[in-house]
Amino acid sequence: MVVKETELTEEVAGQLITLSEEWEKENCCHGYYKNTLDDLKGNRIFLALEGGVVVGYLFGHKEVTDRITSIYDAGTSCFEIEELYVKPEYRSRGIGRRLFQYMETVVSPGVDMLMLGTAAKNYRAILHFYLDELGMEFWSARLFKKIR
Ligand SMILES: CC(C)(COP(=O)(O)OP(=O)(O)OC[C@H]1O[C@@H](n2cnc3c(N)ncnc32)[C@H](O)[C@@H]1OP(=O)(O)O)[C@@H](O)C(=O)NCCC(=O)NCCS
Repeated sequence: MVVKETELTEEVAGQLITLSEEWEKENCCHGYYKNTLDDLKGNRIFLALEGGVVVGYLFGHKEVTDRITSIYDAGTSCFEIEELYVKPEYRSRGIGRRLFQYMETVVSPGVDMLMLGTAAKNYRAILHFYLDELGMEFWSARLFKKIR
């Protein structure tokens, strides 16, 4: 398995959009819709390839915070992870972790924090992944209860 950063070529865009269509069909994250080319533009893109075939991706971009919060000061450089996805048949083999750790190494020279939001329906598994396996910390969650 190879993990690498790539430019947003037409071919890469097609591969990522196809994978995001599969992600949307899987219906495993609240409110997830497949990407368009505009969603991909302006992001740094990382691919996981198995035998030359893209089986997972991560993309995100750098942001500088404009206000102070309980976890960062104004002016903090953050890498906002927009999406991390591995094809279902390749999961639980460490590919997601390798994509994350590769990205972390590559972006770390110019970035103070990694940030992401998640709407994964399997929230226990995703929190285990990010908190226990990747060393992220928990900030906040939005909960709901249908009463009608
Ligand atoms: C989250 C995801 C990228 C992990 O990829 P992966 O290659 O399976 O990751 P690793 O093998 O490094 O780690 C496996 C861990 O991922 C988590 N995980 C596995 N399947 C998952 C799923 N369907 N949903 C959420 N988390 C999952 C579990 O914590 C698992 O730990 P375990 O093997 O000890 O049970 C992958 O499950 C996925 O693409 N899920 C659907 C899209 C998604 O929810 N992306 C994250 C949005 S923030």
